[in-house]
Amino acid sequence: MYRSRLHTDLSKITLDFVSSIDDDSEIALYDILGSQAHTLMLLQNDIISHNDGKKILSSLEDLKKEKFDDSSGAEDIHELIESKVIQKAGMTSGGKMHTARSRNDQVVLDIRMKIRDDINIICNCLLDTIETLVSIAKNHQRTIMPLYTHLQQAQAGLFSHYLLAHADVLYRDFLRLYGTYERVNQSPLGAGPVGGTSIPIDRHITAKMLGFDNVIENSIDATSTRDFVAEYVAMISILMTNLSKISEDFVIWSTSEFSFIELADEFTSPSSVMPQKKNPDILELTRGKTSEVIGNLTAILTTIKGLPSGYGRDLQQIKSSIWSTSKISISTLVILKSILLTMKINEKQMKKITDSSNLIALDIAEKLVQEGIPFRVTHQIAGILVQLAHQSKKPISNLTLAEIKKSVVGTKVTAKIISKIISSTTVVSSLKERKSYGSSGYSEQKRMISDRIKTIHFSRIDLTKRENKVSSSIEDLQNKIDKIIQ
Ligand code: ARG
Repeated sequence: MYRSRLHTDLSKITLDFVSSIDDDSEIALYDILGSQAHTLMLLQNDIISHNDGKKILSSLEDLKKEKFDDSSGAEDIHELIESKVIQKAGMTSGGKMHTARSRNDQVVLDIRMKIRDDINIICNCLLDTIETLVSIAKNHQRTIMPLYTHLQQAQAGLFSHYLLAHADVLYRDFLRLYGTYERVNQSPLGAGPVGGTSIPIDRHITAKMLGFDNVIENSIDATSTRDFVAEYVAMISILMTNLSKISEDFVIWSTSEFSFIELADEFTSPSSVMPQKKNPDILELTRGKTSEVIGNLTAILTTIKGLPSGYGRDLQQIKSSIWSTSKISISTLVILKSILLTMKINEKQMKKITDSSNLIALDIAEKLVQEGIPFRVTHQIAGILVQLAHQSKKPISNLTLAEIKKSVVGTKVTAKIISKIISSTTVVSSLKERKSYGSSGYSEQKRMISDRIKTIHFSRIDLTKRENKVSSSIEDLQNKIDKIIQ
């Protein structure tokens, strides 16, 4: 349709190379909505007649129900939709739809609308997953587990504390995406090919009709910048690395060596040869798909880094990276939530491992500190106690007074005090006494859980307000169109 300056059509192979029609199915509806807002604005500003506007708007309305066939020979969805409008409304009216705009502002409008919807979907999924983590935490405020550093048992802790750590990480992902939305939800429509137009359009009106918070002012910036795409995919890359990390924990914990959790059958895969196997393929794929998203970010950044200002066709290639990023993150969040809800948590095993590992050594050292002994000395004493327990293959609590004496040699501490502290220190007593802000102590769990429940509640309210603003703008637009075309 656009090749008037050129003498020949594209060959089939070249058209396939050039065309973005396959990727464009994701933005077809946004393109129609954008065209409707643009047409309505042309009509309201007397740039086109009521009759022309009516014909264009009703053709576009018909197209909402149509399934586009990709053998049309069109280079992209913008060309296809315009040619269909011309077919339906006739050249005299339909040929006016593309007045004062360009595919360059059109495509970036569609991408912004798509990403804005995806952000809202992902933010909802994130709140669902966070809520699931917090509700499981609520049921496991007394479930004792070993906490790890270097994948070595470090301190006794609580399973709720572990879950809340991930809830907090994911909440930061939520906040990042929530912030990104503000930069995405700016309308580029009416920026034209790059430098604007002499036709008296109103960019603010179309922005409002489509539920944007504002316009991207500079027409060069509006048409040629994809920093908002890079930002979105970067935020999702961080989110995916966080989900990948949770998956990795669960892969390790579901081994028979750990047995802290058991994944529900529906989230595991059998082996083709070894009948006893229950493989955590879904979690492994979360790790694998995270790499794909990071690859998408790399593809986008390397596409935009060397482009001169103004639209370049290279930008067409980044669309599939965006769609893939959204699809992966949404499905991962939905699946992870179900994994969390269906997995069995083996409390007994977690407790057994915690008890068998002298994880109260630090708590003993800290109790001695409260007797006025320097931490460095108490650390040394506790270290010797662990060594003695290890050598005699029994827990610290079973060491004899004679054995304990060896730990205080060269210090002013008596074996009696140590023995008293050992006999009064258990994992449970330590967790009762652990009160530092944000720690694994019992009292902190209670406070943190109720705090997170409130945060989720208020975030849902904010998110719903934001979604309603877009949907009510689109409803208003639809009502205006219906009035004109009925
Ligand atoms: N199909 C193109 C894309 O996805 C639309 C913009 C084409 N603009 C142009 N001047 N060739 O980016």
